[in-house]
Amino acid sequence: MTNETILSIEKLNISVKKNKIIKNLSLSFYKNKVTAIMGPSGCGKTTLIRSLNRMHDLDKSFKVKGNISFGNTNLLKADPILVRQQIGMVFQRPNPFPNMSIYENVLAGYILNGIKLSKEEKDNIVDINLKKVGLYDEVSDNIHRKGSHLSGGQQQRLCIARTLAMKPKVLLLDEPTSALDPKATTRIENLINELKNEVSIIMVTHNIEQASRVSDYTAFLYLGDLIEYDTTETIFTVPKDKRTEEYLSRKYG
Ligand SMILES: Nc1ncnc2c1ncn2[C@@H]1O[C@H](COP(=O)(O)OP(=O)(O)O)[C@@H](O)[C@H]1O
Ligand SMILES: [Mg+2]
Repeated sequence: MTNETILSIEKLNISVKKNKIIKNLSLSFYKNKVTAIMGPSGCGKTTLIRSLNRMHDLDKSFKVKGNISFGNTNLLKADPILVRQQIGMVFQRPNPFPNMSIYENVLAGYILNGIKLSKEEKDNIVDINLKKVGLYDEVSDNIHRKGSHLSGGQQQRLCIARTLAMKPKVLLLDEPTSALDPKATTRIENLINELKNEVSIIMVTHNIEQASRVSDYTAFLYLGDLIEYDTTETIFTVPKDKRTEEYLSRKYG
């Protein structure tokens, strides 16, 4: 089976001052697949996925070089607002806007970008996206309450709904369950499985079991280098590099 490429990174280098964080990294992500970015703490996972969302525009100490192809455009040269609509990001800690209701949180991408919608369009977007993340039944009676009343797992699903509402082609998740209990984690993992039919997912995790449960492909990063990238099955059963093997057997954190 051949895979369609959704995003292609070529010779990506990211540094802060003299510190090289991502070193000449090239890899392609595939459409409607879940790719896990795995590796020990501090190896550059967050830095890598932030570059896919142009987050480094907000911090000028980062120098980003290389090419990230998305269709015919180089993401690093495109309009960051458009990039963020196409490539949505959900962060490690659930962060619904505290001054917005659940309803407004789902619509936040539209509200913050000044995109006008009719009441009917808004209701529709909110319903569809709350249903997608399995929150609809849990919150439909309280949709105008603040999102901050929800449990951690519900807040994270609300943040996923907010991102999906912009209809991104790619969903970036940075350790989306690291602040959640096991039950809430399972719900998010099941959700990731359902969502890959409509969006390509790139997920950072340092949870080895999580990568093996939910991803189709796994990239293993170590000190800013891409050590190995293959199907998750291959990485977990026959890793080629000793460092991957050692990481999987938990020789280092
Ligand atoms: N704002 C920053 N300024 C300087 N160094 C940073 C900054 N953010 C991250 N780093 C450094 O970049 C490296 C990779 O960090 P990060 O991408 O957060 O790793 P990971 O997500 O894999 O834990 C670390 O050595 C970290 O200290
Ligand atoms: Mg990180």
